[in-house]
Amino acid sequence: MVRIIAPSLLSADFLNLESEIDMLNTSNAQWIHCDIMDGHFVPNLTFGFPILKQIRAKTNKTMDVHLMITNAEQYIDEYIQAGADVLTLHWEATTHLHRALGSIRDKGKKAGVSLNPHTPVHILEDILPYTDLVLVMSVNPGFGGQSFIPSTYEKIKKLRKMCNEINPSCMIQVDGGVNKNNAGTLFASGANVLVAGNAVFSSANPIKEIEQILIAQ
Ligand code: DX5
Ligand code: ZN
Repeated sequence: MVRIIAPSLLSADFLNLESEIDMLNTSNAQWIHCDIMDGHFVPNLTFGFPILKQIRAKTNKTMDVHLMITNAEQYIDEYIQAGADVLTLHWEATTHLHRALGSIRDKGKKAGVSLNPHTPVHILEDILPYTDLVLVMSVNPGFGGQSFIPSTYEKIKKLRKMCNEINPSCMIQVDGGVNKNNAGTLFASGANVLVAGNAVFSSANPIKEIEQILIAQ
């Protein structure tokens, strides 16, 4: 499966968001990861529709929207109108996941399910056929710059095995504490989409950093 890097704007300089996006546009990152937090599902707040629309207007990269919010089902249409190409909901925050994923796919967008570090992959068995992407959280969601939780490797291996049996084209995304040192092992474990916030934006050379994560062994 093709390797994809999704820099997370959470760690970008929001006073210079336009130049950050210009920089990503010239990089080999295929996706831009946008973290939406509501202060309920996670203990932090980020941004909403107006900023997403402005990001959309500045890039042709895949806009990868990670919803860390309760009642996400209510806002699916609005996030798609704001420009999301991939829309990911948390398993822990979504009561009617099957319906929610279906409504994302009906609009021609990719539907993702995210798991917190404490949520086991086996609960995905019945929903995997309706899922384009599983986002495995490798930190507790809410903040950038946290340390990677090493048990994530085993989780990804288990999930890749399940996907091979149930839905081989399902992508596996990892989010939290990803950098050029753990990226190779993450790809080898079965992930194909890596989110990186702090590693990219705190680097003196973010474009090179993205490249190094992409080719990590
Ligand atoms: C955390 C977010 C992540 C965050 C990752 O809840 O979902 O996308 O930006 O940041 P780093 O790569 O710094 O751990
Ligand atoms: Zn995220």
